[in-house]
Amino acid sequence: MVTPVSFAKDGSPDMTTPTSLSLKKIYSGKVRDLYEIDDKRMLMVATDRLSAFDVILDEPIPEKGKILTSISNFWFDKLAGVVPNHFTGDKVEDVVSAAELPLVEGRAVVAKRLKPVAVEAIVRGYIVGSGWKEYQKSGTVCGIQLPAGLKEASKLPAPIFTPSTKAAVGDHDENISFEQCQAIIGAELAEKVRDTAIALYSAAVEYAATRGIIIADTKFEFGLDEDGTLTLMDEVLTPDSSRFWPAESYAEGSNPPSFDKQFVRDWLESTGWNKQAPAPTVPADVAQKTADKYREALTKLTA
Ligand SMILES: Nc1ncnc2c1ncn2[C@@H]1O[C@H](COP(=O)(O)OP(=O)(O)OP(=O)(O)O)[C@@H](O)[C@H]1O
Ligand SMILES: [Mg+2]
Repeated sequence: MVTPVSFAKDGSPDMTTPTSLSLKKIYSGKVRDLYEIDDKRMLMVATDRLSAFDVILDEPIPEKGKILTSISNFWFDKLAGVVPNHFTGDKVEDVVSAAELPLVEGRAVVAKRLKPVAVEAIVRGYIVGSGWKEYQKSGTVCGIQLPAGLKEASKLPAPIFTPSTKAAVGDHDENISFEQCQAIIGAELAEKVRDTAIALYSAAVEYAATRGIIIADTKFEFGLDEDGTLTLMDEVLTPDSSRFWPAESYAEGSNPPSFDKQFVRDWLESTGWNKQAPAPTVPADVAQKTADKYREALTKLTA
């Protein structure tokens, strides 16, 4: 049956609510819905939901799931030489019926069902946001001692690995030290995750520079396959998981404008919202402007 849980007023599937396919749903995250194909494979569907400050907004961001999927697919392909990824090689149309295909087209991928590595692999090349706040107080970021005299948005001498816990829906991820990361996933795996995340970030930064984009920081997720091989999964270097700055407006000492989620975050902050659900209703023009920012990131990176 082709029954999205609800429809937007114009009759198109409302992607803020979970998609509904005849495949069995195994998980509904803040942004993505996962469906079982068999015990080894799943369909990962990116919806138009947007989560900000860990609260899911009620209003969809038009086409966001498709844009995120295009950006991730681009990076998975580009970075395939650095680390294996979760793609099985199957096409979506091989596992979804023709009747249901329009519900997921352009926003779904067929992925290996991996055992998630229980930390978020964050890499920072610039000091900004929560990192900048911590540095001003203590001269450190996530416990890592940094040189004195850095300004807001300064480039770090080398990219740093600043892992966080993986929170359940409704909870906030928490920054942890490398030692805590080792305690959670094991010393050897922690080193592999750190080195791989930094290698991925460095390769991406080099490419993005050719497109006039600075990647200030990003978050990767990894899983282990049946053989225990470290595998890149989830989404890669999207505006949801990264801070992208236009190189031409970058200047040390101030937080540059970005092509990412920061736009809608700034709008939410301007309303005086206490960051507890429910979020304020996002006006249509803010939702559209947010979609434009996501699209701009896709175009700049890949066009
Ligand atoms: N190949 C994979 N195998 C197993 N789990 C995966 C794979 N790819 C992604 N995932 C998991 O699927 C979920 C995707 O959902 P979503 O991106 O909405 O995540 P979330 O954890 O709710 O939110 P956030 O991205 O803010 O952490 C995540 O829990 C992610 O770890
Ligand atoms: Mg996620």
